[in-house]
Amino acid sequence: MKAHIDWSLRHSEKKELSRASLAKIDELITQVPEGKHKTVLMSALHLAQIEFGWISIETMDYIAGLLKIQPIEVYEFATFYTMFHLDPVGKYVFEVCRTGPCMLVGSDDIISYIEEKLNIKVGETTQDGMFTLKTAECLGACGYGPMLQCRHKNHEFLTKQKVDELIEAYRSSKVE
Ligand code: FES
Repeated sequence: MKAHIDWSLRHSEKKELSRASLAKIDELITQVPEGKHKTVLMSALHLAQIEFGWISIETMDYIAGLLKIQPIEVYEFATFYTMFHLDPVGKYVFEVCRTGPCMLVGSDDIISYIEEKLNIKVGETTQDGMFTLKTAECLGACGYGPMLQCRHKNHEFLTKQKVDELIEAYRSSKVE
């Protein structure tokens, strides 16, 4: 899925998934036993977030309908995982890991620096709609902290200088 993400689809006003995503979900459903459609939920929510930018209640209801499961099952799932954005977010979402190993090597300082640099607090989006800052639990790169993830890409061994370069690179669309 990672290699085929079309980020330009984000923030569209669409209320339904693209044919490609629906086909992908159909394909996944055929691989699970009847009545076990919930196992496709993680993939379906990822596809929805890529296309819609965030996961609204309406989107959760829509996904529940697609998978023929109860809306509450989608609510429970989507609210459990921090990678699902339950409110509108900026074009780029910085998710900074603040679990133990990253904290020991300075993730809190990096978070403070990004807050200062972007003039926002954790959970907020810059006025121009470009960046949202979030924190996350372990992102699987514990030996490379402090680190953040943006659009499924890891940025590791962060320093203030690296943060400056990263923000500039995203602003000038030098990285996607
Ligand atoms: Fe930060 Fe694992 S603790 S990536």
